[in-house]
Parts: sequence; C-alpha cells; structure tokens
Amino acid sequence: MGRLFILCELSVVAMVILLSVDRTEQLQSSQAHTLLRIRRLLNHPPVLSSWTDRTDFCNMEPNSSLTVVCYEDSVTQLHIIGEQGTPQLPENFSMESFITTLVKLPNLKVLTLASLGLRGPLSGKIARLSSLEIFNVSSNLISGSIPEELSSLTSLQTLILDGNAFSGQLPDWLGQLQELTVLSLRKNSFNGSLPDSLGDLDNLRVLALSHNRFYGQVPDLSSLTNLQVLDLEDNLLNGPFPKISTKLVTIILKRNKFRSGIPINLNSYYQLQQLDLSFNSFVGPFLQSLFALPSINYIDIAGNKFTGMLSVNQSCNEDLMFVDLSSNLLTGNLPDCLLNLKKVDVLYARNCLSTGDQDQRPISFCRNEALAVGIIPSNKNQKQASKTVIVLGITGGIAGSIALAGLAFFVVRRSNANRGNKTPPTRLILETASTGYTSKILSDARYIYQTMKLGSLGLPAYRTFSLEEIEEATGNFDSSAFMGEGSHGQMYRGQLKNGSLVAIRCLKMKKSHDVQNFMHRIELISKLRHPHVVSALGHCFECYWDDSSVSRIFLVFEDVPNGTLGNWISGRRSRQMLTWAQRIAAAIGIAKGIQFLHTVIVPGLFSNNLNITDILLDQNLAAKISSYNLPLLGEELGKDGKKSSSGGSKEIASRVNHADKNDIYGLGVILLELMAGRQLKTKTEIDAIKDQIQSSVAADAAALRSVVDPTVQKASSEQSLRTMMEISLRCLLNDPADRPSIEDVLWNLQFAAQVQDGWRESYSSEGSPGSPSQPPSLRLTIPK
Ligand SMILES: *[C@@H]1O[C@H](CO)[C@@H](O)[C@H](O)[C@H]1NC(C)=O
Ligand SMILES: *[C@@H]1O[C@H](CO)[C@@H](O)[C@H](O)[C@H]1NC(C)=O
Ligand SMILES: *[C@@H]1O[C@H](CO)[C@@H](O)[C@H](O)[C@H]1NC(C)=O
Ligand SMILES: *[C@@H]1O[C@H](CO)[C@@H](O)[C@H](O)[C@H]1NC(C)=O
Ligand SMILES: *[C@@H]1O[C@H](CO)[C@@H](O)[C@H](O)[C@H]1NC(C)=O
Repeated sequence: MGRLFILCELSVVAMVILLSVDRTEQLQSSQAHTLLRIRRLLNHPPVLSSWTDRTDFCNMEPNSSLTVVCYEDSVTQLHIIGEQGTPQLPENFSMESFITTLVKLPNLKVLTLASLGLRGPLSGKIARLSSLEIFNVSSNLISGSIPEELSSLTSLQTLILDGNAFSGQLPDWLGQLQELTVLSLRKNSFNGSLPDSLGDLDNLRVLALSHNRFYGQVPDLSSLTNLQVLDLEDNLLNGPFPKISTKLVTIILKRNKFRSGIPINLNSYYQLQQLDLSFNSFVGPFLQSLFALPSINYIDIAGNKFTGMLSVNQSCNEDLMFVDLSSNLLTGNLPDCLLNLKKVDVLYARNCLSTGDQDQRPISFCRNEALAVGIIPSNKNQKQASKTVIVLGITGGIAGSIALAGLAFFVVRRSNANRGNKTPPTRLILETASTGYTSKILSDARYIYQTMKLGSLGLPAYRTFSLEEIEEATGNFDSSAFMGEGSHGQMYRGQLKNGSLVAIRCLKMKKSHDVQNFMHRIELISKLRHPHVVSALGHCFECYWDDSSVSRIFLVFEDVPNGTLGNWISGRRSRQMLTWAQRIAAAIGIAKGIQFLHTVIVPGLFSNNLNITDILLDQNLAAKISSYNLPLLGEELGKDGKKSSSGGSKEIASRVNHADKNDIYGLGVILLELMAGRQLKTKTEIDAIKDQIQSSVAADAAALRSVVDPTVQKASSEQSLRTMMEISLRCLLNDPADRPSIEDVLWNLQFAAQVQDGWRESYSSEGSPGSPSQPPSLRLTIPK
C-alpha cells in the first residue's frame, strides 16, 4: 500500500501535468535561462541532453524522467530524475549556488530533483520557493540538518528527503507544517528522539522514517487519524507499541528495539494490509486472529519473543501473500488455512510448533525462553499500590493468613457448581518468570535454607505454565474440576499432561494491584518448597490485551490427595483414623513445616493462623501445611470466618517481637485436637480440654488416658502421651514469651515418637501402616 499510496500522490501530479500541457505557454526568457543554468550546474546530465537555447520548455513532451510544467509564463513544476551511475558532479559544485539559481523559478509548486548527485547541505534559501507543495530530492548526497527556513513553507504537502546524508535531530518546528501529508526521510543519518510535534501533523498520511538512527519512544500519534503508512524500519526506537489510529494500512516497525506486547485492538485495524514487526523484542502472545483481518496480505513477526499456541482452526484472509513467523516462541499447530492458500509464502522455522519440520525446537525451549519474558508494569498508581500492599502485609501478619492452597475452599465447596467456560474471550496470557524480575525482598533476604532438600521433595522444578496448559488441566475450567470458591477466586483440581494431579488457585487481579509487588510474592512462593508445606509447582499469568496488565493469576500447587488432618482424627473419613504414632508423626511434620516457614527467609513467615483443617495429608499420610501468611494481592485478610487460633489479636499487637509464638499456640491447639480426637472450634472448647489435661497430666496413667480419644487411649505409651500433653500445655501458655521455641517443640515431639516406638516394640499389637518397626534411635525422622 505504501507503494500504491505514493502512486496516488503521483497521479495527482500527473493530472496537473496533463491539464497544463494543453496550454501553450511562452516561458519568460529569464526562467529559460535559469533552466539552462541548472543544466550547466548539474554538469550536463544525460537526462537534460535535449535542452538547447531554443527549446520550448513549456511545450516539451513530458516523460517519467523529465517534465517541465508552466502556468502562464512561469515554471510551476520541474521534475528531473537522473540516471543511477551518472558521473559525480565536479569538485567545484556548490549546493548553495545551485539553490540560488533554482529559486529564480519562484512559482515552483512541485520540485523533484532525484538521483542527480546533489551534495552538500541544503541551503535555507530553498524557502524562497514559497509556493512549494511537493519537494522531492531523493537519492542524492545532501548532508547536514534540515534548514530551519523550511518551517516557513506552510504550503508544503510532501517532503521527501529519502536516500541522502541528512543528519541531526528532527526539528520540533516540523509540527508547524500543517499541510504535510507525506513526510519521508528514509535512509539518512538522522538521530535523536522523534519530536512530539509529529503528533500535530493532522493531515499526515505517510510517515516514513526508516533506516536512520532515531531512538527513544515513538510520540503519541493517535490523533493522526489520516495516517495510513507508518514506516519506522531499522532505527533504535524502543518503548511500547506506538500509539496510532486504527486506520493504518501499513505498519513497519522492523528492526528496532521495541519490547512490549502488541495491543489487542490491532484486531480492529480493518484497513491493515501490511504488518511487519520483525526483529524486535516484542513479547507476549501473538494475535493469531490477525491472519483473518479483512485487508491483510503481509505479516512478518520473525525474530521476536511472541508466545502462544497457534490453532489449526484459525481462519485466514484469502489475500495473504506472505507470512513469516520464524524465530519466536510459538507452540501449537500452524493454521490449516496458511498451508492451504496457494499463493501464500509461509515461513515458521525456529519456533516450537508441532509441525515437525522447518527446524522446530522442543516445547521446553519455548517455555524456558518465555521465562525471560516480562510484563512491563504500568507506572500509574505504583506508589499508592505499593503502599497499600505494605499496609495490608502488616495487617496480614496480625490478622492471620490466607489459605494459599485453598483449604478455605473445602468449607465453601459447591456440589453442583455450573461454572465452566468462564474464561474471558479476549484476553491473552503473558508467560512470565520470576527470574525476569529483580526482587528487593529477595535480594535483601538471607536464605537460611539455601540448600533446601529439593531432591527429597520429589517435585518438578518450579516453572511457568501457559494458559493452554491450565485450561487443558482443568478441562477448560469444567464444573467437574471446580473445588470451591473463596473470597479471592476459585479453586480447581486438574491433571497435567504428564498425569500428575494439581490444585489450581485462580486469583482475580484488580487494575489497582501492583504487578511488580505481586511478582515478589510469586518469587517467594516459588521458594516455598518443603516436604511439609503444600508446594507450588508454578504459575500462569493471564493479561489484558490493551495494557498488558494482569487480569488473573493461576497458582499451580501439588495435589495433596488425602484430605485434611481434621478429617483423619474425627472419623469423618469412614473409620479411617490415624493411630497415635501417626498422629505424632503428623505433629512432627507440622512442626517441621512451621520451622521452615519461620526460617526460609528473613524475616520469616510468622503468624500462619494454623488450623487443623489447613493441614493436608498426602498419599503417605505425611502432613503438609497448606495455609501460610503470605498476602498475595493486598486482599482483605483474616475475614474469611476462620477461628482465630492465634491467641487473641490484642495480645499479638502488643508483642510484635513474639510473632513466631503465634504459630506455637496454633500448633498447641492442633496437638490438643490430635489427642482429643475432634476439632476444637471455640476458645471455650480449647480452654476446657486444656484444663482437663492440666489436671490429669500429673495424675496416674488411667486418669491420663481418660481425657483422650478412645483410639489414642488404647494404643499410646504413657510416656509418649504425657510428653505430648506437657508440650501442648506449654504451647498454650498465655504469655507468648513463655511458650517454647519450635525447636523445643520438635525435640519433644520426636521424643514422644521414640518412646511410642519403644512402647510398640514391647506391645507390638498395633499395625501402623507406613511405620515399619525400626530401632527407636533411628526413628527421629518422620515416616513418609
Ligand atoms: C524523456 O525525454 C527527454 C527529452 O525530452 C529524453 O532525453 C529522455 O531520454 C526521456 N526519458 C525517457 C525515460 O523517456
Ligand atoms: C567548475 O570547474 C570547471 C572546470 O574544471 C569550469 O568549467 C566550471 O565553470 C566551474 N564551475 C563553477 C560553477 O565554478
Ligand atoms: C520522489 O522521487 C523519486 C525518484 O523519482 C520517486 O521514486 C518517488 O516516487 C518520488 N516520491 C513521491 C512521493 O513522489
Ligand atoms: C547525532 O548526529 C550528529 C551528527 O551526526 C552528532 O553530532 C551527534 O552527536 C549525534 N547525537 C547523538 C545523540 O547521537
Ligand atoms: C477445530 O475444529 C474442529 C471442528 O470444528 C474441532 O473438532 C476441533 O476440536 C478444533 N480444534 C481446535 C484445536 O480447536
């Protein structure tokens, strides 16, 4: 279209020519002399060989390389187009005297002087041609900057300086040339950033700045509603996708440094014929619907980091001539229509497509590369947002934790939820890795558990998931995968391609949520991997097209299939009850999980609002904490109706430095529940059991056993039970300072396990799955 459009321009010129040719004009003799002098200064180029002293300039047959048009007795149009390879102008050629001669044709409206070897700076005297409308000096050797005098040429409609050696910055006064419809400065040595005033050129139809050294961001061009051609190829421009009107016909951003997503409204560029975004650093999903735009015939996105899964079912415009998708991070299948169209030239090498040809890379390559792709966070409201998060972070520390892996969801599970197909239609995923971000939190944090026993976790490495994977895992968010809904979003169960079961938490983001801040949390979550903490396997971002802001976040957790610890002590799981040894093992697991949360980063994750319904059991009945105090979105915390097991918020507020002891209290409650064989829902219940134990712990074995669950009564060693009771009472002391450290608790629990094992050795009647009898001294690790 760029070509077509310029042809249009020419045809306007041609029409003027034809109208004028019919008249027989007698040129002023002075102007005839000027033309002859021009020929001399140009060193008698072949194109002017027919000119003589007697030539009737106004009545010559015009052709494509030489045209003179007169009006009345003046030259109004002059086109001289030299031949390539014309010998250079002589040493003594002076641009200054050439222009001085030229302006003796003062009525010139159209001037084309192309391929004539003109060299030296363009003299400001050119502005004396005050009627000039079209000025085309392409393919010469003109150097220097654009003379400021040009700003007075207010009739100028077309300015073409292509293929010269112009340099310097584009002047701001260009915005004053209000009639300008074509500004073409291709192939020069201009540099600097583009002036904002370009956005004032309301009549501009062609803006061609390719092959220069412009840098910086493209000014807002969205008010240029007539703009049809934007050619910025081969510069050093960066920043977001240029702001342009939807009437563009040709968009060429090839070979720059753009690094952003593409706006979703490209889908509405109904006149768009040519789109060339190749060799930039564009990120985010490629809009495959562009193949079907009503006017499109050329798409080149090669050499970027576009992600996303192409679909065989995508339809295409039948006029597509050229498609180059090479060297991106695309997955999926090439749309059938691209392969079926006869005349279309399709290149797609070096992606991760499943076509099996054209040098495709393994899917893992695209995934890993996508890890380096980041969201450009919008700066607006950033200050405010981060403040909010800090405040909420503190609030969260006091008021409690959020159930990360969704224990709260069990409470609100819906039996016949019909919430499939809830994916918003016009959004994209931006795969983002924690590695793309520098996290202050993390760089400040000193990792104590630097060598976390990741190997023993048996978990795959933390990674980024694509939205397609999430959709596939959940059967496109099928109602059968729906687990429940909390105030922060839905929870789904899913199965990954490799067969592993996962729990997927979906968090809705508000525009006000600060993505950067959230990334820190994600980074943190990716580090929270421990055998006794429900660990995250990865995450997925879903973003809005328009500004790349995040719309939803999916957190993918390991599936912990055996329900909550609460169910396993109260017999709600059809007579499946944990034995005493298994209960101690669970308590040890929880304690280890707490120890991990308290030390994984500095400061640790305290006040995790531990609750027996937030402890999950895996297939080996190992306990995993599924709720930790990591406010994700600055969401409201502590309002999800859970019981407060943290010992009262007033107390906590006054003793901030005993933050770790809130979890000790929470663990104490769980120990009581393990012994009592039921959940303790209120402070009154807790205190009642606590008092009972208090009074029996000093008494004899019979009294000791009378207060505990019948399952525990028969099958527990006295010493083990007494140890558990003592440590639980210490955990529940009113003054947090008096409560034991987590190490102390752990030591006591392990002691209780040992003596229970010893007891079992001598009375081995209890068959405990997963606890084969071993010498007590080796049983300090929990069974898995
Ligand atoms: C155009 O006309 C001029 C003389 O009028 C002649 O010298 C030149 O060769 C012509 N060029 C073409 C391309 O016909
Ligand atoms: C340039 O030099 C040539 C001789 O080398 C001479 O004929 C011509 O007149 C000079 N032109 C100008 C503009 O001085
Ligand atoms: C400017 O002149 C060159 C050389 O003749 C030509 O190829 C180009 O089309 C012209 N541009 C316009 C807009 O007329
Ligand atoms: C731009 O180009 C001019 C002339 O070539 C040069 O003097 C100047 O240093 C350049 N400026 C920048 C910022 O590159
Ligand atoms: C493509 O369309 C067919 C039928 O319309 C459907 O069966 C198939 O699942 C679709 N494939 C994809 C990848 O959407």
